[in-house]
Order: sequence, then C-alpha cells, then structure tokens
Amino acid sequence: MKYLLLISFIPALASFSASAADNTLQAGQKLVDTHCINCHASSYGGDGSGIYTRDYRKVRSLNGLKAQVTNCNTMLNLKWFDDEEQQVVQYLNHSYYHF
Ligand code: HEC
Repeated sequence: MKYLLLISFIPALASFSASAADNTLQAGQKLVDTHCINCHASSYGGDGSGIYTRDYRKVRSLNGLKAQVTNCNTMLNLKWFDDEEQQVVQYLNHSYYHF
C-alpha cells in the first residue's frame, strides 16, 4: 500500500519546480496526504484521487471546491486556518480540478 502511494506521487512531485506557488502546493499536498486520503482511498482505491476525477464528481467550480474543503475541515474538526484551507484548495485545483 505504501509502495503504491509512493509511485502515484512521483509524477506530481516531478512537476514541481522551485517557486512560492510550489511551496503552497506542497503544503496543501501534505495536508491532504495526512488528513484526507485514507478515507477517500478506502472507498475509491489507489491513492483516493478517483474521488476528484470521477465523472459525477460534486465539485464544479473553484467556489464549490473552497466550500467542500471548508466543509471537510469543519466535519473532521481539523481546525485548519484559512491559509491552510487555501493551500489545500490550490493543491486540489492544480492537481485534479483545473478550474
Ligand atoms: C471520513 C471519510 C472522509 C474524509 C476523512 C475526507 N473525505 Fe472527502 N469525501 C468523502 C466522501 C464519502 C466524499 C463523497 C461525498 C459524496 O459523493 O457525496 C468526499 C468528497 C470529497 C470531495 C468532492 C469530490 C467531488 O466529487 O468533486 C472533496 C474535494 C473532498 N472530499 C475533499 C476532502 C478533503 C480536503 C479532506 C481532508 C480535509 C477530506 N475530503 C476528508 C469522505 C471523506
């Protein structure tokens, strides 16, 4: 399982180059890896990212993505600050949603 997760992150990591925007994306990825992936992966398999790319996905706009991340933060009682939510939004948008 760990091996699979590692493999799936290599393309994402390789696409990073050094800039402030990338620091944001990396911070967002770390937060998602730590708090969000396990549960998505248990229902969608692999690295769980299928939940963001499925045909009938729920999130349809950048605002929708922000709202979803805020909901998850509240539901899971993570107590993320706004900048942490922003990092997660940026990361998910950059990697999966492309709004
Ligand atoms: C306890 C399980 C669980 C955890 C933990 C969890 N999620 Fe989810 N998440 C779900 C489920 C289930 C859905 C699908 C909901 C649906 O289809 O109505 C979902 C859907 C989503 C979606 C929408 C996908 C779409 O359809 O476009 C996003 C974005 C998302 N989660 C982000 C997060 C983030 C960010 C975290 C971490 C803070 C997180 N989730 C943690 C269970 C979880």
